Amino acid sequence: MPLRLLLVRSIALIFLATLALSSLLVFWRTYEKVETDMTAALAAGQRAVANATDESDGITQPSWRLEHIVANFNGDRNVRATLQRADNSQVRSLLPPPRHPVPPFLFKLLAGPPQTATVDLPPALKSAGTLRLETDARNDLAGLWDDAKNLLFLLAIFAGTCLLVLYFMLGRALRPLEELTHAFARIGNGDYRARVPIFAPLELAKLSAGFNEMAVRLSEMEHRNHRLHEQLETVQEEERIELARNLHDDVSPLLFSVDVDAMTIRELAQSKDYSAIVERSHAIRGAVAEMKRNVKAILGQLRPSGLHALGLASAVDNLISYWKTRRPEITFRIHMPDKSWGPRIDGALYSIIRESLNNAVKHSQPSLIEVSIEEAYESGFIVARIADDGCGFDANNASGGFGLIGMKERAALLGGALTIQNRRDKSGVAVAVRLPLPSEDEIEFVPEIAAQ
Ligand SMILES: Nc1ncnc2c1ncn2[C@@H]1O[C@H](COP(=O)(O)OP(=O)(O)OP(=O)(O)O)[C@@H](O)[C@H]1O
Ligand SMILES: [Mg+2]
Repeated sequence: MPLRLLLVRSIALIFLATLALSSLLVFWRTYEKVETDMTAALAAGQRAVANATDESDGITQPSWRLEHIVANFNGDRNVRATLQRADNSQVRSLLPPPRHPVPPFLFKLLAGPPQTATVDLPPALKSAGTLRLETDARNDLAGLWDDAKNLLFLLAIFAGTCLLVLYFMLGRALRPLEELTHAFARIGNGDYRARVPIFAPLELAKLSAGFNEMAVRLSEMEHRNHRLHEQLETVQEEERIELARNLHDDVSPLLFSVDVDAMTIRELAQSKDYSAIVERSHAIRGAVAEMKRNVKAILGQLRPSGLHALGLASAVDNLISYWKTRRPEITFRIHMPDKSWGPRIDGALYSIIRESLNNAVKHSQPSLIEVSIEEAYESGFIVARIADDGCGFDANNASGGFGLIGMKERAALLGGALTIQNRRDKSGVAVAVRLPLPSEDEIEFVPEIAAQ
């Protein structure tokens, strides 16, 4: 049951008990009052008869006199006079009927037995009969009952009004609790935007302020959790992308070269050039060993091996030598300074050059591949270019591989950009990458892992 109704019901019960007690008290007082009134009325009646019979010495018609006395009681509200004549006939005075008679059961409860008195008549009147007075509480009780009814009615009105006012006041006083309950339910459902107004009573003001503070904290925590979750997802996503890129850049070229070597061995077998076959098989074993190292490095989230130890220019030289032995028909030209731009940029340039060479050999049947790296101090960029004179790039025939995506991502991660397009001067493709020149600090920074 709601607290409001519970309180109103308790107070209503108290009112009812008070009303019942008041009624009992009123009944008791009425009972006493009726008894007192009747005693007093009987005494007054007796006094009136005594007065009327005082000068009865010269009475010639005693019967008439007594009838006259009885007639005087007509209209008396509480006492009835009865004349019992010698011939057993009776003359009775008449009581006025009460305007609002009490119910018979109440009359029985409150009136009690009537009080009677036989008047001691003087000798001159005795011969005419006996005179008896008897109380009748009907009129007295009707008056008292009216008063009691009014009192009880007023009490009931007062109690009802009080309960009504109380009901509305409690409604107002308990509204903050209702709002708090509603707000708690929202919090329970995970809606941390729930807030309540600061209520006026001091205790409730503290409660509502405490609630709002709790909701703010919860919503901040939820926001933080959400952000952490997002960050975690982003980090995981970046790690996956990085892993895919490394796998592609470090393993795919070697697989490709193994494929090329295997095809060469088939040709060499036809020409029975066994020493060259042995040489190719050594190359395959070398590539496999390199792949093993790379896979190990990827698994351990290591940088591409060898680059830092050799330096970028030597690492690119090695790459070119590698392809020269496999594609002797292709001419390679390199133009780059023998310097380092720091591990991040060197690593990115190396990977981009390696994938571009790989793509040129794989897709374009070139006769010449040129690799150049220049520093443009005025614009603050390093510009690398890998160009071949092969069949050219057709975006519609793109294979859906990952090499280009990886190169572009590497450039973007360092704040640069990479483009691949067909050359204007002649046939073939040119890959151009622009990376911002690093600060001195970045160039000198040597990660621990690379130093091992
Ligand atoms: N030098 C190039 N000459 C001609 N076409 C090229 C050249 N470089 C790239 N392409 C074209 O761009 C496409 C995408 O290259 P990308 O490196 O992304 O994929 P891939 O080399 O086919 O596969 P992956 O690198 O994943 O092994 C290639 O399929 C090819 O059609
Ligand atoms: Mg590729």
